[in-house]
Amino acid sequence: PRKIIIDTDPGQDDAAAIMLAFGSPEEIDLLGITAVAGNVPLALTARNARILCELCDRPKVRVFSGADKPIARPLVTAEHVHGKTGLDGPELAEPTMKLEEQHAVDFIVETLRKEPEGTVTLCTLGPLTNIALALQKAPDIAQRVKELVMMGGGFFEGGNITPAAEFNVYVDPEAADIVFRSGVPIVMMPLDVTHRVLTHKARVQKIRDIGSRPAIAMAEMLEFFERFDIEKYGTDGGPLHDPTVIAYLLRPELFTGRDCNVEIETKSELTAGMTVVDWWQVTGRPHNAKVMRFVDDQGFFDLLTERLARI
Ligand code: BDR
Ligand code: CA
Repeated sequence: PRKIIIDTDPGQDDAAAIMLAFGSPEEIDLLGITAVAGNVPLALTARNARILCELCDRPKVRVFSGADKPIARPLVTAEHVHGKTGLDGPELAEPTMKLEEQHAVDFIVETLRKEPEGTVTLCTLGPLTNIALALQKAPDIAQRVKELVMMGGGFFEGGNITPAAEFNVYVDPEAADIVFRSGVPIVMMPLDVTHRVLTHKARVQKIRDIGSRPAIAMAEMLEFFERFDIEKYGTDGGPLHDPTVIAYLLRPELFTGRDCNVEIETKSELTAGMTVVDWWQVTGRPHNAKVMRFVDDQGFFDLLTERLARI
């Protein structure tokens, strides 16, 4: 199985990603979960990660707490989407498992140095603060990362927190800039992909029908999460962003995209956090990311449902 670290700010869609990984032990060896501030403040994301481990009967998974704010800006959160706790929807018990004492950034550095070069994949589902801090602290780790698969950015699709920027990159553009300049092989799941995987009613019902406690909780989370888009945009469901990252590890053929140069806007007030994707290869700048654009959405939901049923 592929060794991964999940860096996350749960978030109901982060929860779906984590559960997709839990349901795929043959392909995925989860070395640890690192929490970062994003959708809600750090204390809550670190709590939510542990709640998910316990909900899915994975109390041995190590959960680390990381950066409580972006590198150079005040934290922006998204309770308007995810609710006060970040995991609003189901009734969830407070976690009893402990947080690891080590800081998430140190865990990331130590793991990448300890494991054989090119064997650890970083899966990022929130702002890139922890990863950027690790790269700053230990630049030698850049060449040791197998791949960094991230949910973040948007290009033809535009932004979801400002007209130009997607939330994860907007929250910490300086961190994203460090990551995109680091030389780490990046796979990017932008809004162009994630806005095509919508939680239609029948899809959520299939998850609920699995009947297990984690699956029912997942269905309740999705019903809370999707109401934001349904009410605001009149869509048939909410965009299930973060699990596309794990789905890519399991079934890369569900996604299509191309190698591009991507730069991050950090200076402009109007477009801070914009991912400037050179899709048409007009700059001649070197490729630094595989940018996905299309997805087999039904294939994605079939995979998610099948794996949730294995938890
Ligand atoms: C991203 O922002 C968060 O609200 C979601 O969890 C996802 O990671 C989508 O823009
Ligand atoms: Ca997230």
